[in-house]
Amino acid sequence: MIKPETVERIIDAARIEEIVGEFVSLKRRGANLLGCCPFHNEKTPSFTVSPAKGIFKCFGCGEAGNSVHFLMKHEHYSYPEALKYIAKKYSIEIEEEELSPQQIEKQTEREGLFNVSDFAQKYFSELLTENELGRNIGLAYFYERGLSDDVIKKFGLGYCLDEWENFTKHALASGYSINVLEKTGLSIVKDDGKTYDRFRGRVMFPVYSVSGRVLGFSGRILSSEKQAAKYVNSPESEIYNKSKTLYGLFQSKNSISKSDLCYLVEGNIDVITLHQCGIENVVASSGTSLTMEQIRLIHRYTKNITVLYDGDAAGIKAAMRAVNMLLEEGMSVRVVLFPEGEDPDSYARKYGAEMIKNYVEQQATNFIVFKTKLLLEETQGDPIKKAALIKDIVQTISFVPEMIERNLYVKECSALLDISEHTLATELAKCISERFKRKERNSEPQPTPISVNNNVEPNPGSGNDLPYPVESSLPDFVQSLTQQPVYANEMEERRIISLLINYGDTTIKDKVENEEGEMVEEEYYVSAYIVGDIMNDDIMFENPTYQEVFDMYKTKIYEGEVIGSSYFFTLNRPDLDNLVATMLTNTYTISEKWGDDKRRIYVPKPEDNVDKDVKEALLKLKQAKVNQKIQEVKEQLKVASDINDIMLLLNEQKNLESIRILIGKALNQIITS
Ligand code: CTP
Ligand code: MN
Repeated sequence: MIKPETVERIIDAARIEEIVGEFVSLKRRGANLLGCCPFHNEKTPSFTVSPAKGIFKCFGCGEAGNSVHFLMKHEHYSYPEALKYIAKKYSIEIEEEELSPQQIEKQTEREGLFNVSDFAQKYFSELLTENELGRNIGLAYFYERGLSDDVIKKFGLGYCLDEWENFTKHALASGYSINVLEKTGLSIVKDDGKTYDRFRGRVMFPVYSVSGRVLGFSGRILSSEKQAAKYVNSPESEIYNKSKTLYGLFQSKNSISKSDLCYLVEGNIDVITLHQCGIENVVASSGTSLTMEQIRLIHRYTKNITVLYDGDAAGIKAAMRAVNMLLEEGMSVRVVLFPEGEDPDSYARKYGAEMIKNYVEQQATNFIVFKTKLLLEETQGDPIKKAALIKDIVQTISFVPEMIERNLYVKECSALLDISEHTLATELAKCISERFKRKERNSEPQPTPISVNNNVEPNPGSGNDLPYPVESSLPDFVQSLTQQPVYANEMEERRIISLLINYGDTTIKDKVENEEGEMVEEEYYVSAYIVGDIMNDDIMFENPTYQEVFDMYKTKIYEGEVIGSSYFFTLNRPDLDNLVATMLTNTYTISEKWGDDKRRIYVPKPEDNVDKDVKEALLKLKQAKVNQKIQEVKEQLKVASDINDIMLLLNEQKNLESIRILIGKALNQIITS
């Protein structure tokens, strides 16, 4: 626990050009520095570092953030690791928060579990090579499965003697308590107090954390007796959580990062055999279905994943479920199917290293194409089955977060399925908007595109090639900054957030009536002004991240504090880092992109008057929200049949129209002032 004050000092001390400069060669270009982006492949530099703002931003891939974010992304550091790195570089002494007695106890217990796991791993691997039984039984087994000494060592494999409590006794004699032995699951304590070794008579596969600490074990039985489980695993503990670890990640992470690709297999032995064949970018889900946490672990190193399946029906079905999750996380997924009954390990053993290398490279198929082809075979011309298939495929495509990619899939599947792109696109839009509605925090009707006839901008949401009416829950919504706006009021909302981030801690003046009824000029912080105004009118942001950012400003203001944009960089929220950095750098680029008459987006320019900008942006947001409300009322009028309802709705419409006129007038005043 690093103290918040220290965190602030560290972040203040970090010179972004120096931090980034250690990993990327940068050239000065005006006020900024420019280099080739380390996060994607490029020949022309589009990676910009702004010393003044303390941030980097790649205009090619969109990656953006501050020094801490850069180190986390580039060096795969955790948040505290990144902070410690900077602290060391700038000789800042780290003050850690004092831990409570409970926290200390918990921490010592964790350390105890780590220690005994490490001890066990060393003992088991020693038995494998130094003990006669270990050699004759355990090592002989690994050799029989074709494993070399190199990989046996690399993966820390071992053997647990086939005695009731050989390990437990040895550990106790070495000073470990029965408490930690039981908590790690290495020893089992019976009601009568007798202890025995959980893994007796098994070959041992230690499970490592990303940084190489032993978290738990998987033990494989040697005999083929049916009554005992083939694999026994460590139970969940303070340090081992199966759904948050991936077998082989520690040994594979560098190769995954370098090759920008991760193979996903089912079994531990598959990982080891592939390493031996020279394929070192591979992890195993260890037989269970993939979790979101595991996917995020992989995503730290690459967004490309190739799933290697056992070719049987059960394997395929199970893996299909995982793929929607992978797509949703923004991963790009390919598939390799092995001949029925073969897994990567058995295939490699049969055909050798070269063959399996070629096989996985040549057979890798884009997942959506793979799924479409596979299901198409099953339909065999049955139109009802085909309709179901289209729904299924469209749903899978809808999990792809990026619009451009979705469009490509629509094209590809339209050809495969012999269905028009338009039909698929319409289905897709339906699917997306249904999911969006389910996710919404309330069940209010969705905004429909607004037609406007006064001095308002045309509705930005209607300019899409594909009919995506609403979609604010994009996983990487920052992408949307360079694409079309994704819902009706996105530009107005974005402009407010941009003003908060860029100017929240500066001040503006406004005339207000004092107690005596005179107009006097008062000075306000921009953030306080915006928060006050928006709270006054009960306006909610449709984009949940914008709402979150707004709420942070609100909370701080209620606490009597005014925050600047650097506040967000202290939160360990890479998604917000990215948003804030994008807002800070994109101020001008957006306006260039959107600078044509039709889709003008208002963003403050430095020479502009922030006063005017804030007031105008607030009015524009209100105008957009009022227009949206009016449209909703009109829609309700279309279907209303009860005369009382109709009267109420008409009345509401009238009220809203008069508010709209007031807003219009105020806007005119500001624009022409
Ligand atoms: N597994 C498990 N418990 C079991 C069976 C399997 O935890 N009773 C996990 C193991 O991590 C195993 C993975 O699921 O590595 C895949 O299972 P399977 O394909 O049956 O095993 P293989 O890896 O092929 O093992 P082997 O080749 O040694 O038979
Ligand atoms: Mn196998």
